[in-house]
Amino acid sequence: MQAVQFENYGGPEVLHLAEVDEPQAGPGRVRIRVKAATVNPYDYKQRSGMMARGATPAAPIVPGLDAAGVVDQVGEGVTGVDVGDEVFGLGSATYAEYAVLRAWAPKPAGLGWGEAAGLGVAGETSLRALGLLGLRPGQTLLVHGAAGGVGQAAVQVAVAEGLRVIGTASEANHDLLRSLGAEPTTYGEGLVERVATLAPDGVDGVFDTAGSQTGDLIAIVDDPAQVVTIAAYGAAELGARFTGGGGDASAALAKIAELAASGALRVTLARSFDLGEAAAAHALSESRKADGKLVLTVG
Ligand SMILES: NC(=O)c1ccc[n+]([C@@H]2O[C@H](COP(=O)([O-])OP(=O)(O)OC[C@H]3O[C@@H](n4cnc5c(N)ncnc54)[C@H](OP(=O)(O)O)[C@@H]3O)[C@@H](O)[C@H]2O)c1
Repeated sequence: MQAVQFENYGGPEVLHLAEVDEPQAGPGRVRIRVKAATVNPYDYKQRSGMMARGATPAAPIVPGLDAAGVVDQVGEGVTGVDVGDEVFGLGSATYAEYAVLRAWAPKPAGLGWGEAAGLGVAGETSLRALGLLGLRPGQTLLVHGAAGGVGQAAVQVAVAEGLRVIGTASEANHDLLRSLGAEPTTYGEGLVERVATLAPDGVDGVFDTAGSQTGDLIAIVDDPAQVVTIAAYGAAELGARFTGGGGDASAALAKIAELAASGALRVTLARSFDLGEAAAAHALSESRKADGKLVLTVG
């Protein structure tokens, strides 16, 4: 099958199409014929080698953490899904014609393949972070980096849960944030004061997707542990909480599918690329100016 892979860490140009063996669905997994795979920031961090601490890849790497497609193999012990079902979910090596998923949910009817693919990482991450914050309806949440893929999902999930949401973004994205139900403000200098003006009674929790201004975010809440970050790797030293992925995500994806089917959660597709254009997709992702999900369409 065709897949995008790289043999050495480096810039987007190390990505290229290659003929590779098809993966097989092991126990508890399904394999899909990929229709769309998402480009997430993790992918360029992995490709650049920033997480490899100077080592070279032991074998060629096919990037990709989420995708949507049609089930074509069902692994041992898997129930509730059949060959031919349309699903989206989380897996590995999804920049390919076939990929194995470790968690999935039915593709909501009416959603395009790219939008469905874009629900995976962004949706699961949002539910995980908001779950850690444990806010109640009527409480106030700040989403820092609200115009990105995860930020937009988090705003909508929080609004659906009855929270008041303030979101940081560049001025050009303020109308977008309003359309999702958030009150926008800009990030950068003066953030603490701007948020205090918008929420004089205080903010109950912060979800940081941007990985910047950790000190300011902590100053905005009473308890540093009410800052949950997915991108500020040193934040725990300041008392904030970092969350990474990897746990059982099936229940989260089912909830995300429900929200998307009801129209409470929509995915902004910033741009779609062919599989062979993965390098251009990475360059745009790395610019941090995509303002929505980037997808690779397959086949
Ligand atoms: N730990 C985990 O489990 C986990 C899971 C998923 C993602 N992540 C990480 O979370 C981060 C966000 O992911 P994503 O998919 O949402 O990325 P993304 O879609 O690429 O985010 C782009 C957005 O970041 C905003 N931005 C850029 N610089 C900013 C700044 N200084 N302050 C606030 N916002 C800023 C931009 O908003 P404007 O255009 O409005 O400036 C842009 O819309 C990435 O670092 C990713 O690796 C971690």
